[in-house]
Order: sequence, then C-alpha cells, then structure tokens
Amino acid sequence: MKDTVVPYTTPDGRTIGDVLMDMRGITLRFGGVEAIKNISFDIREGEIRAIIGPNGAGKSSMLNVISGFYNPQDGEVWFRGAKRPPMKPFQVARQGIARTFQNIALFEGMTVLDNVMTGRLTHMKTGMFAQALWKGRAEREETENREVVERIIDFLEIQAIRKTPVGRLPYGLKKRVELARALAAEPKLLLLDEPMAGMNVEEKEDMSRFILDVNDEFGTTIALIEHDMGVVMDISDRVVVMDYGRKIGDGTPDEVRGNQEVIDAYLGVAHD
Ligand SMILES: Nc1ncnc2c1ncn2[C@@H]1O[C@H](COP(=O)(O)OP(=O)(O)OP(=O)(O)O)[C@@H](O)[C@H]1O
Ligand SMILES: [Mg+2]
Repeated sequence: MKDTVVPYTTPDGRTIGDVLMDMRGITLRFGGVEAIKNISFDIREGEIRAIIGPNGAGKSSMLNVISGFYNPQDGEVWFRGAKRPPMKPFQVARQGIARTFQNIALFEGMTVLDNVMTGRLTHMKTGMFAQALWKGRAEREETENREVVERIIDFLEIQAIRKTPVGRLPYGLKKRVELARALAAEPKLLLLDEPMAGMNVEEKEDMSRFILDVNDEFGTTIALIEHDMGVVMDISDRVVVMDYGRKIGDGTPDEVRGNQEVIDAYLGVAHD
C-alpha cells in the first residue's frame, strides 16, 4: 500500500488525484458470515475504480458499507480526509455519494422524469413550512432542480422517454434511468453495482460510453462492480479483486491480469 499519493495523468489525459475515499481494515459480519475480512483500499479523485470477484465475494457488501447501508464491525471509513462516524444512507448521500443497485430500484409507476427528480431529494433544503414562508426561495430551488435534471436527461439521451412510466421500459433503459437518478444528486462519488448485468452487447457499449463520459465531463469519481471483464479492463483505472471476503489483488488492469492468485480465483475460471 502506498502512503504518499502523487497525482498522475492517465494516457487519455485525465487527472487522477488525491485519495477521496479510504477504507481501512474493514470487516463486516452477518451473524457467523464474514462478508468482508479486514480489507483496505482507496478510491482517488477522478478515477474509475472497479471491484471484481466471484459471486458472494463481498463486493456488494463493500458498496453497502461505502454508502452507509451497513456499518462495519471493524475498520475505518475515511472520506475527503476525515474519518466518518457511523452514518445512515441519507447522511452519506448528503456528503455527495450516490449509487445504483444490483437489482434496479425505481418507482415503476412513475415517469422517467419523476424518477430522476427523486435524485434531487438530498439537495432540497426547503421543507413545507419554509416553502410557505419563503415562496421565492422554494421556487428558485424547484427551477434549479429541474435544470439539473433536464441536463442529465439530455446527457444520457433519454429525452424521448421522459414522460414514459418506468415500468414500460426495457431493462437496458431502466438501468440508464437509474444512472440518471444517481447523477441527479450531482455526486462527488458514484457507486454502480453491476451497471451492465443482463444487458446485450450494444446496451453494454452504450453504458460503458456513458460511464466514461460522466467521469470525463462531470469529473465524477466512480466505483463500480462488474462481471464483464472486457468492460472492466477497458474502462477502469484501477481494480480491486475480492474473493471470499478477502482482498486478493489491487492495481491497474494490467497488474491485476498478471496476478496469479487473481487468475486462479477468478479470471481463469468460467463465470457469468
Ligand atoms: N444482508 C445480509 N445478510 C446475511 N448475509 C449477507 C447479507 N448480504 C450479504 N450476505 C452474505 O455476504 C456474502 C457476500 O455477499 P455480497 O452480496 O456482498 O457478494 P457479491 O460479491 O456482491 O456477490 P454477487 O457477485 O453474487 O453479487 C455472501 O456470503 C452473502 O450471502
Ligand atoms: Mg453483488
């Protein structure tokens, strides 16, 4: 593990900077099951960081710790240079961390636009009481929220379906709407749990492009879990490899590809 961080520029000209998120010695248990065993790794400003490993390795559990869904029994979570006390998911969201879920979690009966608007909730400062007192401020906030949401809808090229109920959309588009909702929070760190699972080749290509564009144009730091190794090796700056709750590899795609333990546990094995 490196102690000093030197910002560097990737071959395609992006800057990878200071440590944004630092997970130190994280252990998470569910009863007798140790889902995460003393894992440390960091996520740096501006990078695309992948978490890979076989089913049940503890990848989703790790994202759930980062997003505050679970608080670990052991270890420290550091975000933007400060140690984070145990937090609820909404508090983590307010700190600038947004996520998508392994199983899509959208309001199926609501339109795309309304679903994406829910991503703004963490930014709404004006409650009902204040709205009555300061109508002007509430209106300004509403206008700003709409502008952000419309910009993201344009960016992800879902204008044509903005009034469509999410329940009527094909799977690949639902995944894109979920990404839109996460982006509506204007996160500093975006967590994606298998953004391409169940997609066909074309949908995967689209999603890869959107992930790269989000990282590039908004400067959003991204941590993602993905089983498609072609995609992972293609779009990530660095990769963490988990197996049975342990970390067995950490490095650039090339380093990870050449790691014998990783090849034995995951890369050399047939998986979905
Ligand atoms: N809420 C929970 N209660 C009990 N056990 C859990 C819970 N969530 C996860 N686990 C267990 O923790 C381990 C890690 O699960 P996790 O979902 O993090 O794996 P994963 O790497 O995301 O797998 P997959 O690739 O299948 O999504 C598994 O043994 C799982 O059964
Ligand atoms: Mg998972």
